Amino acid sequence: MGYDMAIAVGKENFVLHKLHSLTGIVPVGYYVVQHLVLNSFTIAGPEKFNAVIGFFESMPKHFLLVMEICAIWIPILFHAIYGLFIVSRAKPNYFGSVYGWSQNLMYTLQRWSGVFLFLFLIVHVVTTTVYKYATGSAKVIEYAAWHEKLTTAPYLWLLFYIFGVAAASYHLGYGIWNFCIRWGITVSDRAQNQVQKFAFAFFVVITLVGWAALAGFIIPQNQNSGAGSAQVIRELKLTPHVVRAS
Ligand code: HEM
Ligand code: HEM
Repeated sequence: MGYDMAIAVGKENFVLHKLHSLTGIVPVGYYVVQHLVLNSFTIAGPEKFNAVIGFFESMPKHFLLVMEICAIWIPILFHAIYGLFIVSRAKPNYFGSVYGWSQNLMYTLQRWSGVFLFLFLIVHVVTTTVYKYATGSAKVIEYAAWHEKLTTAPYLWLLFYIFGVAAASYHLGYGIWNFCIRWGITVSDRAQNQVQKFAFAFFVVITLVGWAALAGFIIPQNQNSGAGSAQVIRELKLTPHVVRAS
């Protein structure tokens, strides 16, 4: 009896597995793509990145929090926890197996990237959103703070984000391909091959978008305030020629 129950508890549930798969695409996958695209505004200058932060900060606080909890935190937590459960039950099918073909390698890498993303997201969200709420100030997530963090030797934060971005886009790219098969969207070999090509291109493009965001924090710009020169003039009440003289 106890043994039967243990098996029942350990069994994957069809509906939960489908829900896990769906949450990977929406809202989690959708959120990550728009998150990296908005972050890449750094390449247009600090003021553009800070404007994105300012946009979210200008929303009514209770609305922002409810939106974060319902659209981001709950789906990610569910996807992450059920994902770890799937990983814990998975049989290794690449290393130590005679079938070391690339399909199995890609599958194994997706599960590893999931485990890495779990750790990445804990560190990332605690040092950004949670830190912001704890200090009551958005300064900790603005351009200047990122510039400082990513350009400080020995560049562990930079490495952390380089891998975090690549892991997320790989996990999502491979996930799109797997999702299309799981939901019967691609049935024929030809359709599956085409989606595989799309998924690979998607992985490359989203990785480059995320890395561009990181490059935008590193390349020297008007980092200090994140304000454009016109705004500096307004804020300091300087006349243009004073600014030119300095
Ligand atoms: C270029 C690298 C990245 C940068 C610069 C970045 C930047 C940020 C910032 C500034 C916040 C705070 C937003 C706020 O509280 O208003 C944040 C939160 C967050 N980031 Fe990222 N991020 C990056 C990569 C990623 C990746 C790869 C993922 C997913 C795997 C991710 C997932 C999240 C999540 C889930 C939150 C919490 C969102 C919320 O509660 O509002 N980020 N990130
Ligand atoms: C937070 C830690 C995460 C863990 C532990 C995790 C784990 C997993 C696992 C194990 C799978 C494979 C499921 C299967 O083979 O049946 C998977 C699929 C997937 N994940 Fe994640 N994941 C995480 C985060 C993410 C993130 C941040 C995204 C979006 C960028 C995402 C998007 C997807 C997608 C689209 C799939 C494919 C769904 C399918 O197979 O039908 N996951 N995840």
